Amino acid sequence: MNKKVAVIGAGNVGASVAQYMAETNLADVVMIDIIEGFPQGKALDLTQAGPIRNYNCMITGSNDYADIKDADMVIMTAGLPRKPGMSREDLLAANAGIVKTAGENIKKYAPNSFVIVVSNPLDIMTYHMWKTTGFPKNRVCGQAGVLDSTRFRAFVAMECGVAMREVQAMVLGGHGDTMVPVPRYTTVAGIPISELIDAKRIEEISERTRFGGGEIVKLLKKGSAFYAPAAATVEMARSILCDEKRVVPCSCQLDGEYGIKDIYIGVPAILGANGVEKIFDLKLSDKEQADLKASAEKYKGVLKEIGY
Ligand code: LAC
Repeated sequence: MNKKVAVIGAGNVGASVAQYMAETNLADVVMIDIIEGFPQGKALDLTQAGPIRNYNCMITGSNDYADIKDADMVIMTAGLPRKPGMSREDLLAANAGIVKTAGENIKKYAPNSFVIVVSNPLDIMTYHMWKTTGFPKNRVCGQAGVLDSTRFRAFVAMECGVAMREVQAMVLGGHGDTMVPVPRYTTVAGIPISELIDAKRIEEISERTRFGGGEIVKLLKKGSAFYAPAAATVEMARSILCDEKRVVPCSCQLDGEYGIKDIYIGVPAILGANGVEKIFDLKLSDKEQADLKASAEKYKGVLKEIGY
C-alpha cells in the first residue's frame, strides 16, 4: 500500500509538493484547503497529468480535515505569503491561528504522523506546531535549511559554471535575514569554495542567499517562491518516508546542542524512518556560533509574541 501524505494548503507550495511527490510516485497525496472546490480542482488537474507523467499514486482534494485520517506524514504549507517589503515575521499573527487549527486536527486525525512545517515565519511556526500537536520532537521539523542551501548551491554553481549537483552547501540558523550560510562547509565536488571563489564574492553570494526569498517576492510582486520551497520539502519527505538517512539542514527542536535550548532552528540532521534521528552538534567558529545564537535569540523574542 502506498504511504499517505496530507498536504495542508493547496496554494502554490502545496500543489507543487503534490506534483513533485506524484512525479516520483512517493505517496498518495490528499490536499486540504479551506476554499471550496480549490483542492479538489487542483487534485483533479494533477491526476489528469498522470497518464503522461506516469503516476501510480492518487491525488485527492478535500475541505475536511477528517480526510487526513491516518496520514503517515503531514506537510503544513497553509498560511499567508509575504507581500513585497514584508518580513516573514510580519505574517506571525495571521499564520499562528492557521497553524493552531491545523495542529489540533493533525493531533486528532493523524496522531502518528511526521509533520514538516513550511508556513512562515518558519522556525516559529514549527515550534508552534510542535507545541500544539504535543508530538515528540523527532516527529515535527521545519523546512528551511534545504531551501536556503539549495539557493546557495545554485548561486555557487552559476558562479563556477559547474553542474548544480556538484555543489554541496550548508546554511544554518533561522529561515530569515539572520540565517547563517557556512562557506566552510560548502564545496564543489569536495573542493572548498574558498579555493575557487574569492572571499568578497563568497560574501556577496551569502548575502544574496540570506535575502533569496525576498528577491523572489520582489520580482513576483504577488506571492512568494514555490518551486524551490516545494522541491526542498519533498526532498525531506522522501528521506523520512524511504528511510534514506539524508543529512540536511532543517529546523529542529534544540535541547542544548550549540548551547541553545527550547527553540526550533536550522541545524544539520539525519532524516530517516524515525524522523529527525540525530542532530549534528558541529564545532562552529566563534563568528558562526555567535550568528547562530543571535538568530536563536531573535526567535525567542518572537515566540513571546504568541504566548510562549
Ligand atoms: C522563501 C519563503 C517561502 O524563502 O520563505 O522563499
